[in-house]
Amino acid sequence: MFGKSSLLVAFLASSVAFAANQALTATAIVTDKHKHSAFECWQLDAPFTTSTGAGTAGASTLQLGNLANATYTVLPPHFEGGVHNAPHPQYVLFTAGLAHITLPNNPGEAYVVGGGEGLVIAVDTTGGGHNTSYPSGETTIGFQIPFEGGKYPAYKVLNKGPCTVSQIRST
Ligand SMILES: *[C@@H]1O[C@H](CO)[C@@H](O)[C@H](O)[C@H]1NC(C)=O
Ligand SMILES: *[C@@H]1O[C@H](CO)[C@@H](O)[C@H](O)[C@H]1NC(C)=O
Repeated sequence: MFGKSSLLVAFLASSVAFAANQALTATAIVTDKHKHSAFECWQLDAPFTTSTGAGTAGASTLQLGNLANATYTVLPPHFEGGVHNAPHPQYVLFTAGLAHITLPNNPGEAYVVGGGEGLVIAVDTTGGGHNTSYPSGETTIGFQIPFEGGKYPAYKVLNKGPCTVSQIRST
């Protein structure tokens, strides 16, 4: 059911990125001042550093902050999540499948392809919420990982709307 053009949209809307300055960039879903869910492109302040850890020494790593717990969710093909708020401020990491996020009261949409660019930051715990559907014929796997105490890491907003392809460096 996915034609070339929707795959292109999916690519353009890929939502996690390694920016040229070695910071992690991911699409965030926030609550705006009108109490509507909205997209922002966030760059986390924590920089990549060179790991000295066993098994990863020499590789790039960064700290994602203090996290509370993790839920592993299996979404069947064509599942409709409906309109909802983030239950907690959290990372949502899609490792397989495809999520399509739309906003009832704001423009923009994000196709999040499961895999290396599958990270979203959902902090719209109040307001009108966002609508997530899983339009592909594949099972989507999502990890929901709330921030400890609801406290998310320092970030800056690169732009309104989801992160774009120009913000992505994939290697
Ligand atoms: C997971 O963490 C969130 C945020 O701290 C908390 O509200 C929730 O109760 C926790 N869930 C479990 C199963 O521990
Ligand atoms: C959520 O999005 C799906 C897919 O775009 C759409 O079919 C559905 O009507 C939306 N649901 C609501 C409640 O807006």
